[in-house]
Amino acid sequence: MNKRNTSIRRRLLIGVLVTQALLTLGLALIAVLLTQRQLRISFDAALHGRAMSISALVRYSEETKPTLEFDKEMVPPPLERKHPDLYRVIDSNGRLLASSSNWPAGLDPVPGRGRAAGHWETKLNGELYRGIRLVNVPVLDREGAQNANDSLTVLYAASTVELQEAIWRAGALFVAASILLLGCAAAVAVWSIRRGLAPLAQLATSASQVSPSNWELRAPPESVDTEELAPLTHAMTTMLAKLEQAFTSQREFLADAAHELKTPVAILKSTLQSLAQRPRKEEEYREGIEAALEDTTRMEKLVHSMLRLARAEQWASGSLRRDLEEIDLISTCEISIANLRPVADARGIQVQLCREAEPKLSADAADLELVWGNLLDNAIRYSPAESTVRMTIGRTSQWAEVAVSDKGPGIPGDQLERIFDRFHRADSSRARSTGGYGLGLAIAKAIVEAYGGSITVETSVGNGTTMTVRLPLSA
Ligand SMILES: Nc1ncnc2c1ncn2[C@@H]1O[C@H](COP(=O)(O)OP(=O)(O)OP(=O)(O)O)[C@@H](O)[C@H]1O
Ligand SMILES: [Mg+2]
Repeated sequence: MNKRNTSIRRRLLIGVLVTQALLTLGLALIAVLLTQRQLRISFDAALHGRAMSISALVRYSEETKPTLEFDKEMVPPPLERKHPDLYRVIDSNGRLLASSSNWPAGLDPVPGRGRAAGHWETKLNGELYRGIRLVNVPVLDREGAQNANDSLTVLYAASTVELQEAIWRAGALFVAASILLLGCAAAVAVWSIRRGLAPLAQLATSASQVSPSNWELRAPPESVDTEELAPLTHAMTTMLAKLEQAFTSQREFLADAAHELKTPVAILKSTLQSLAQRPRKEEEYREGIEAALEDTTRMEKLVHSMLRLARAEQWASGSLRRDLEEIDLISTCEISIANLRPVADARGIQVQLCREAEPKLSADAADLELVWGNLLDNAIRYSPAESTVRMTIGRTSQWAEVAVSDKGPGIPGDQLERIFDRFHRADSSRARSTGGYGLGLAIAKAIVEAYGGSITVETSVGNGTTMTVRLPLSA
């Protein structure tokens, strides 16, 4: 798309100008038509007047038997020398009393219309003439009238050159005035559109100053107060707050990951350094290597967890595609319980599985096993020895539900919001003693959300915790 089509200012301007131009043109046209009509009415009125004045020149002769005659001397000089008027006077017997010298031969302006009065038009020397036909015009000269019923028919025509010129002049005046007004209106439109869009430009300038080191959007007051821009400004502020949060959490994740790796790497290094310092007994070497292996295992677990988290997030954001098959939810739970059996047995904890439903859903079994594994691991690790952990499988009309409950210490209210944060441990000393990184719930949440599900906690300090996972059922 070219730039011309994408400029709001241009589009608004074109819209306003086209509307104004149409309006101005329409008004000019109406004005021209009205003026033309008015000028024609005046022209016809003048024609009528002149025809009547011509009829007044017909009088009776002073003979004993008076006849009607026309006083040609009194005919007023033509208004336009170049295009003299045409006239003709006929008495009631059809006798031609007078005719202008320029009356075209054979011109019968209202043929076949009897004695009807009206207007007519003809062309003379290429010029258009407009005429009037007056019938039954009484003879004004009453002296010596023999027949009171004597009446006249008057034909009178004048050139329309001046009328046309007047109409053209009026038209030109209206068009010139319209163009001038259109110019002024366009200037006002340009100014007001520029002014109207100024807050948008200011908002863009403010937005361009936002960067990873400065997340604050200094929105100009006008953009906050402008009705159309307020939602955009609000949306940008909210979006930036979310971005800042995401950025900060990424940074923290990186820092935390580095920190978590630093300790085992340092321990591993010092173990290997002390082994290398001087020759050792075989027993010492074995102990050293075992300690190094333990640290390596811990690092491996961390790296593996980080990788799973990154994958789940990649998948949730849509940048990773997977084809899923329908699986049996119960068997994933059974596998997870079996995997954690040694840990549970070591603490004398009993893990019960309650199947209240047999939901089917499309998922990757390994993903679900990881989620149940993390929840069960927490329940087993944070419960008192010899207690019971219960895993319940149920369903609603749309969701498969898996709940893991324990009789552990519960999670304090101030920690509840943060337990799903990466590297967050509610009680770090306890968690460290249990070997956790604070990534288990973050991974579980990321996976569950990638499937379009949710994970909720119900807990009561001293009475235990229930973690419930909801996953959408297969369609
Ligand atoms: N069932 C539970 N009972 C009590 N506290 C829990 C329970 N589950 C989680 N928590 C608290 O939430 C914190 C976060 O749990 P999470 O599983 O994310 O990390 P972790 O278990 O400490 O480490 P990791 O799972 O990475 O080995 C835990 O440190 C613990 O304090
Ligand atoms: Mg855990």
